[in-house]
Parts: sequence; structure tokens; C-alpha cells
Amino acid sequence: MTRTRFAQHKIFRFATAFLAGLSLLSMTGCAWTSKIFTLSGPQSTMLTEGPVAKAQWGLFMITVYVTTFIFIVVGAVLAYAQIKFRAKDANAEKSEPPPQGHGNPMIEIGLIAASVALLVIIAVPTVRDIWYTHDVPEAEKADAIDINATGYQWWFKFEYPSEMVKLPTGGEAPLVTGNELVVPAGRPIRVHLRTIDVIHSFWIPKLAGKVDMMPNRANFLWFKADRPGYFYGQCAEYCGESHAIMKFRVIALAQADYDKWLANQKQPARTVTAQTAAAEIPRIQFANYKVNDGRALAGSPEFDANPFAAWQKLQVPAAENAALIATGRKLFQEKTCVSCHTVRGHEGMGITGPDLTRVGSRSTIAAGVLENTPERLAQWLHDPAHFKPGNKMYFGGYMVQSPDGSWKPNFTLNDTEIDALVAYLHSLK
Ligand code: CUA
Repeated sequence: MTRTRFAQHKIFRFATAFLAGLSLLSMTGCAWTSKIFTLSGPQSTMLTEGPVAKAQWGLFMITVYVTTFIFIVVGAVLAYAQIKFRAKDANAEKSEPPPQGHGNPMIEIGLIAASVALLVIIAVPTVRDIWYTHDVPEAEKADAIDINATGYQWWFKFEYPSEMVKLPTGGEAPLVTGNELVVPAGRPIRVHLRTIDVIHSFWIPKLAGKVDMMPNRANFLWFKADRPGYFYGQCAEYCGESHAIMKFRVIALAQADYDKWLANQKQPARTVTAQTAAAEIPRIQFANYKVNDGRALAGSPEFDANPFAAWQKLQVPAAENAALIATGRKLFQEKTCVSCHTVRGHEGMGITGPDLTRVGSRSTIAAGVLENTPERLAQWLHDPAHFKPGNKMYFGGYMVQSPDGSWKPNFTLNDTEIDALVAYLHSLK
């Protein structure tokens, strides 16, 4: 086959057409094509927003460069040998092969030396980044904040051991939140990883990851968000039927806003009366931030376009119905929600499920799966097992198991009761 005929070969033409198509698509600027080409989803590990993720990405790219170099060199030698020593006609196919070599010390030593050199190129930054990503650098230790993160089937508990809150029963305990970790931007955060049941894994693709939450083992990781933003996190170790939807969020705020958020969180749960409902003054005012791109699962258009702004909006109470909220608070006791959830300052003191003292100010429910709108919360309360298979609010709350192993309803919720519960939960800001 001559060189021109090779160029006209089917595979060659197909490859050219494919590449031309790809470049055309990338030039159209469609949202989905740009997403494919830049891999810019909310959990992209390429668009890093913190030093730990940047170090991990940089190391990955060094490996890519070295392996690409090897691929090109080996591929070129292979192509050269195939073209140069190919059978040029029917006679050549039957002829003796060219003289064969058996061992060439120079080539063998050269290949070993080249392999060692390439491994060293990968090993040096690997060892450097293992040290760097292991723990907060010495110079920044004084500025670090410690957080305890605990994995549950299937949600995350976050505890702030340095932020003690007064308990209504007397004494104090660390501030606890669920599924949304709020941190100050620009400061190192050391997350102590624990689990209450099986192995989970803690991963915030744009900031850091991933480290397992192991039973009986004290793992930790650290990260820092370069600027305020709304980041997506995900359990990254198979942990049961709802593993894939065991998500969380990290919300990084400027230090001043973080302090405001913290002060509000430390207050007991909000109680809405007819007066406060009529004349509620927004208590937290946040600065305007630039948005980091990101999409939510089945969120409203506003939430999808800008989850961070949606989160900020939720920190401030909207129009409220005090009577409905009071009914909801009563139902929260009667339907035994209180035995699994804490609402600090109100009746709830359970620790099996997420702390709900400020659930109305979180942008998601059901461990990051649903946007926290009244409609979604109502759907969730109506049928939690639909959104989160196997979840323990349904199996253990709504349904209880008899000694013979069968499941029987423990309580039911009608639409009026759900409306009241939604009003109550959303008043907890
Ligand atoms: Cu928890 Cu997967």
C-alpha cells in the first residue's frame, strides 16, 4: 500500500471526520458540548477551587504528561518499524525475515535508565503532595478549624468542636449541623472523619478528596476553599442501597459572614409567634458573591442557575403563618419525629437522624438529594422511601418491624399534617 493509499484508508478518513466533527461541536459553544469537553459539572475534579484539590490535579497531570510521552515514543517506534519493515510485495511476504538481534546492552541499559528517570519524575511530586495533602501546613496550623464529620446510612453529621452551644437542659455541647457544612473561605479546615455504621468516604471534588470514614479508625483530611462558594460533596464508598444519593454540600463564606452564620446557629431554635411572623427582621445579611457554576439534581431553575444565591435567600424567613407553624411543632412531637431529630430549644432531642435546629436554612434535604422547597419537603414527608430507598426515617419511623420481621405502619401523615410540618420545619432558620 502506498503512502497516498494509506491516507485514503477508511480508518484514516473516519478518524479525520470524527476529529473535525468534535472540533466543530466544541466551537458551537452549546452548554452540553462545553460540559463534555471541559468536564465542568458541579463535581468536576478539574475545575479546582482549593489548594489541596489543585495539588491532586497537578499530580494527576504530571502523570498524564509522562504517560503521554511514553505513548508517543513507543507508538512512533512501533509505527516506524511497521512501515519500514513491511512486506512490500507478494515476494517479500515469502522471503526470509531480516537478521534478528539478540540482546543489545546499550539499548537495554538505556531503556532501564529512561524508565527509572520517568518514574522519578512522577515519584518526586507524588511524595511532595502526599506530605502536603496529609495535614494542614505548619505555617497555617494556628489558623485551622477542626470539624468532625460522621457518616450515617445515608447522610452526614457535621460537628464544630470549638463552637460550644448552651443546651436548654443545662450544660453545653458542640454545635451540630447536617448535610451542609458551612466554613470560612481562605482558612484551612481539618475534617475528622468518623462513621456510625459502615465505611463511607468523604469527597468534595472541587476542594479535596477522598478519604474513607472507617469504623474504629481516626482518619482525617484537610481542605481550603479559595473563595466563597457553594460546593458539591458525595460519599465515595459503596455503603448500601442509597450510597449513590448520599450527598452533602460545603458552603464557604467570607469570614465576617461566617461569624454571622455561626452566631445565628448558636441560638436556640426559632419560635414563630403571631408578632414575629408579622414583623420579622432579616437577621443575617450576606455580601454578594460571584457564583461558581454548578447544577443540582432536579432543582428549581433559580436553584440550578445559582445554588449559592438560593442558599443565601433561605437564611432569611419569608412570609409565615404562626398558627400553622405551632400545629406543625405539635405534630413533630405526636408523630414521634422528636425521638430521632434534635431541634435545640424545642422538644426534639433524638440523635438518630440529622439535627434540624436550622433545617429551614439549608438548601437541600434528604442528604443533598432534593432542593429544600415546600413542595419538595412535602413530597419527601409523603414518601421518603421513594426518594431514598431503605432510609431509616421510613424503615424504623413510618414503619416499625414486628418480632416476626414484618413491617407495619407506625403512623401516617395526611396532606394537612404535612403542610403544617413543612411550615414548622421551614420556620427553623
Ligand atoms: Cu456512604 Cu456511600
